[in-house]
Amino acid sequence: MGMKPSYRVHDGFRMPLGFPADGFSSALGYRARPRDIFIATYPKCGTTWVQYIVYLLLHNGEPLSAGRLLADAIPHLEEVGKETVERLPEPRAIKTHLPFAMTPAHAEARYIYVARNPFDCVVSFYHHTRGFAQHYDFAAGTFGEYFDCFIAGEVDFGDYFDHLGSWYAHRDDQNSLFLIFEDMKTDPSRAVVEIAEFLGLPCATDENRIADVVRHSSFDNMRSDQDRWSSARPDEMPAFVRKGVIGDWLNYFSPEQANRLATRFNACAERSGFTGLWPDIVHVAQHMS
Ligand code: PPS
Repeated sequence: MGMKPSYRVHDGFRMPLGFPADGFSSALGYRARPRDIFIATYPKCGTTWVQYIVYLLLHNGEPLSAGRLLADAIPHLEEVGKETVERLPEPRAIKTHLPFAMTPAHAEARYIYVARNPFDCVVSFYHHTRGFAQHYDFAAGTFGEYFDCFIAGEVDFGDYFDHLGSWYAHRDDQNSLFLIFEDMKTDPSRAVVEIAEFLGLPCATDENRIADVVRHSSFDNMRSDQDRWSSARPDEMPAFVRKGVIGDWLNYFSPEQANRLATRFNACAERSGFTGLWPDIVHVAQHMS
């Protein structure tokens, strides 16, 4: 039996150990407001990047001032609980990793979902899980041990494929914007304009403002401001804004793991209709030997 991360389990749903139990139950009771902007993701799929784009768009393209944390401006609902979120000025921007059915719903609220290919997601999630020892007690865990938990859906915030499928089904809802991390990497300006348009912001047509937002939210700029994205990071922990690339998974996966995840992907994609996502990556994984 390999090593496994530890979690706090709420009604069968795994959460990081450090997340207070009352934060989770209170989060589920949050009543969404018409002007709310939810940034919804499975973990490690581009949450912080989109949080910062939304922050910049709502603040005239001006970066967070020194000493201010993104997590205070756009808090994580199931970590802080509803009271903290209710104290935010409107429009409230809110981070969540909840699957669709558990996310507070309002017909007029807006939901931005970011999807990332599961191969890079599991690598990023592995580094996160071994790095936050106080949340997972997995500092000595290997990638192989983590991979087995991930593919079984036994990690925090549940099964990657269930999560993606739950939000993919709502990708065409008029109050939802479904983004793909890899497309954002290829054309960040387009992603920023799409988000601005979706939020109904006049700056969507302001080229200078869009360029400012793209520049401040670039990987290099965000990486140099690490302390604003992750406040309590031990020195030995891998950087939170770590590599931000497509394809790091090739440095970690054995051919057997690649085939297994590709097979699982295809079965889930067939069931949930997302067969068109990341065809090249899935093809490479399926034929790795
Ligand atoms: S979390 O903990 O769920 O909120 O993590 P999340 O922010 O969703 O995902 C972290 C990964 O996103 C990468 N990242 C970026 N990539 C490109 N550009 C920008 N600006 C950017 N900011 C964060 C970050 O490096 C993590 O991916 P990996 O693969 O680990 O580098």
